[in-house]
Amino acid sequence: MTTQIKTSKPKILVARAIFPEALAKLEESFEVRSNQEDQIFTPAELKKELSSVVGALVTGSERIDAEALSEAPNLKIVANIAVGYNNFDIPSISAAGVMATNTPDVLTDTTADFGFALLMATARRITESEHWLRAGKWDKWSIVSNPLGMDVHHTTIGIIGMGRIGQGIAKRALGFEMKVIYHNRSRLSEADEKACKATYVSKEDLLRNADHVVLVLPYTAENHHTIGAKEIDLMKPTATLINIARGGIVDDLALAEALKAGKIFAAGLDVFEGEPKVNPELLKLSNIVLAPHIASSTEKTRRAMGDLAIQNLRAALDNKRPPSLINAEVFKE
Ligand code: DGY
Repeated sequence: MTTQIKTSKPKILVARAIFPEALAKLEESFEVRSNQEDQIFTPAELKKELSSVVGALVTGSERIDAEALSEAPNLKIVANIAVGYNNFDIPSISAAGVMATNTPDVLTDTTADFGFALLMATARRITESEHWLRAGKWDKWSIVSNPLGMDVHHTTIGIIGMGRIGQGIAKRALGFEMKVIYHNRSRLSEADEKACKATYVSKEDLLRNADHVVLVLPYTAENHHTIGAKEIDLMKPTATLINIARGGIVDDLALAEALKAGKIFAAGLDVFEGEPKVNPELLKLSNIVLAPHIASSTEKTRRAMGDLAIQNLRAALDNKRPPSLINAEVFKE
């Protein structure tokens, strides 16, 4: 007679679709509740899903707060597949004794590339020009009538939020011989400032002097509407505003009104208040480039983000320290 040994694998949640190879690998070690159909859970569904698992891979669409965790006594880790973690209520996650992790570094260059691409597209009116061409207007070409943009080279870039991605954008700007000014919660070290040839200025001075303002700061309650009507009023009428940070950092309605009134030249947005909804006033405008939150979206980087999130999850479930633990002060080594 043979005895069957029943092994039970720890149960985890993968809250959004991930690359199939990564899922297959997870299934070797875990009982996985996956969501490859990619239907976003309602808060009530998410709470129920979390109640029976020891770990969860989530994204910005899953809000993890006290309510979501209220019936999840066995949960050890929530691993975000994103560097930004404004979907996490960190005090509540820590109070529940759960580790929170994110995916820094692996997306820095890809996101900085995109920030620069959006700046270029916005200043040079690339999408607007494509629409113009598609609308059959090319035969109306003249030196003065086709879309005229703003220069990028030899202008001043103002970066608000000078973390890894902000510094990556600054280094790209140097190749365009731009002057780099920045504003950040805390000033960079002398060595980092030197590497980016960046000058620290107040937010107001940055807004007054930059030809291109790029937002790369994390979303927090105090950063809500960092850019609103008052701030836009300080900007040059020829300036562009680029937001690759988070929706809510810019007052989208105030921006739409300013663009309509020609208070600034153009804007490029990858993130929106209340996304995936986009303020209809923004959709009516032509002096804006809109992207659906794709700054980190290359296959290589999205795979790397997933891999790092999985590495974090496995570490926590093996009673090891996850490489990118956010609430590190709660889980002392
Ligand atoms: C991040 O990682 O925070 C990005 O915004 C998600 O693509």
